[in-house]
Amino acid sequence: MHVIDPPLVSAAAIQARIGELAFEIEADFGGSPLALVCVLKGGLFFAADLLRQLSMPVSLDFIRAQSYAGRHSKGTVEVSLWPSIPLHGEAVLIVEDILDTGRTTDALMTRLRELRPARLALCTLLDKPSRRIFPIKADYVGFTIPDRFVVGYGLDCDERYRNLPAIHALEPD
Ligand code: XMP
Ligand code: MG
Repeated sequence: MHVIDPPLVSAAAIQARIGELAFEIEADFGGSPLALVCVLKGGLFFAADLLRQLSMPVSLDFIRAQSYAGRHSKGTVEVSLWPSIPLHGEAVLIVEDILDTGRTTDALMTRLRELRPARLALCTLLDKPSRRIFPIKADYVGFTIPDRFVVGYGLDCDERYRNLPAIHALEPD
């Protein structure tokens, strides 16, 4: 496997877009408090950078889920970390690295809705709409990308490449 240069999205473009997303989020939510829920591990850097651009009071929590597709089932999503802050009545923003088929995010949003937040919105850094199976639409999208496997800025391939500052496509050698 090798990382393709130049990056699909540069580090500067990521930071500039995060500034725009923060502006949009602030306009939509006003100055009211926001509970940010970062989807680990891929959403780590995006959440950290977005959080620092938001000026309303924000709390931060984490969620972790993995999707397993059974032979005959549509796949199940196993949650291995759940927010510790009560989200009932809160304005909640889920922060994701990438929206692919939508299976993981769809399951997470269904389960988070059961906690009865006042509002539940979704922000994803990357969107691959061509791969979507579950009818899910993010409220905030950083970049819409083609159907390529990408790494960097939190995204991994077998736990490698998360530390790259930009987003690169990955190709077999
Ligand atoms: P679903 O299909 O549930 O998948 O929307 C979302 C999860 O799949 C992983 N994923 C990727 N990870 N580069 C990655 O590093 C990619 O191009 C990619 N596409 C999907 C990711 O963990 C995401 O949360
Ligand atoms: Mg991954």
